[in-house]
Amino acid sequence: MAKLALKGGEPVRKKPFPKWPIFSEREMKALKDVLESGFWGVGGSRKKEFEEKFAAYQHAKYGIAVTSGTTALEISLRALGLGCGDEVIVPSYTFMATAITVLYVNAIPVFADIDPETYNIDPKSVEALISERTKAILPVHIGGRPADMDALLSLAKKHDLYIVEDACQAWGAEWKGLRVGAIGEMGAFSFQSSKNITSGEGGIIVTNSEDLYVKAWSLHNCGRMPQGAWYEHHLPGANYRMTEFQAAMLLAQMERFDEQTEKRIENARYLNSKLSKIDGIKPLKDDERITRHAYHLYIFRFNPEAFGGISKSTFARALQAEGVPASVGYSRPLYKEPYLEYFKKCPLSCPHYGKSMDYSNVKMPAAEKACYNEGLWLPQYVLLGSRDDMDDVISAFEKIKGNIDEIAGEN
Ligand SMILES: Cc1ncc(COP(=O)(O)O)c(C=O)c1O
Repeated sequence: MAKLALKGGEPVRKKPFPKWPIFSEREMKALKDVLESGFWGVGGSRKKEFEEKFAAYQHAKYGIAVTSGTTALEISLRALGLGCGDEVIVPSYTFMATAITVLYVNAIPVFADIDPETYNIDPKSVEALISERTKAILPVHIGGRPADMDALLSLAKKHDLYIVEDACQAWGAEWKGLRVGAIGEMGAFSFQSSKNITSGEGGIIVTNSEDLYVKAWSLHNCGRMPQGAWYEHHLPGANYRMTEFQAAMLLAQMERFDEQTEKRIENARYLNSKLSKIDGIKPLKDDERITRHAYHLYIFRFNPEAFGGISKSTFARALQAEGVPASVGYSRPLYKEPYLEYFKKCPLSCPHYGKSMDYSNVKMPAAEKACYNEGLWLPQYVLLGSRDDMDDVISAFEKIKGNIDEIAGEN
């Protein structure tokens, strides 16, 4: 009789992991207070309170709360004046928003490879792609693990480039004691429902520059100026304002965030110590300059050869069958996404660009390996479980390894 749950055997666990999102009376009261205040949008105090609190939490001077992480990225790029003919270097292993926002402002995303050991943008690949048109680097702190900011800042300095951090998965993450987001010029965070702090949807921009703050503030508020009249529109903005309900939820969520982050870190370290002993499983490398990991994702590397040649998706399905909600994550590098085709004329072949960008020849080996063969994820809520829950995760890996003959060669 089969042992593996994928083949009809008994699963390692039938219990669910902690439910996500988490809320309590705190969120219910916060929402009720907003309802009763009569200010559900403009005129309320929660948005401003959240902006100040979150920016300070990220060691930034200013925060602008918006509708999503995507919006936060787009406004940041626009505030920096990026547009026609400008190239922005982005990683190939990330969510689609990282690149589409560059296209939204009519600039050109140039895809860099990732470091095979951290899955973050590889500064060596970035350097090789810098051209006279490059204006910015857009690193992503993937899964909550800060990118190599020392190397990126030094490239930015040398070539006079902006850095916009996609910190949409990295609340509270730290590089050498400094929280991410405003290490470069501007940074974007997401509060979409899977995220470690959530209001269903939402985002925030952080910066230390007063000038960029005023521009981004205006862009998220129909082009108004902080001291200007209501019907006076200076910049090409629109309504991207966060609601009072979202801000109230986020203020409540922040109260339990540090405790949750500590738990995720503790459990991730435990998983690292045990899973790294299994031949064919490698947790991503933690750079010693990272002083705090946000663990939005627990990403690990899977070597099919050590697992009877099964594909990463079969391994994910085998884990799921054992009761562990593993995911294949990004399954193709971002430069292969069909949406890029929609930008073929403008901006990718725009006369202002002076040449034509064709992504069909792009090949970033580390990103391709991560997507096609190697990179698997456990979601953040798994890391909120108990030590027994982590032992179940480890048992599931070991069980699959020990009974690999049952699924060897499956794709
Ligand atoms: C790396 C990254 N960038 C940008 C975003 C966009 O955030 P949102 O979904 O809030 O627009 C996400 C969200 O999943 C993300 O993971």
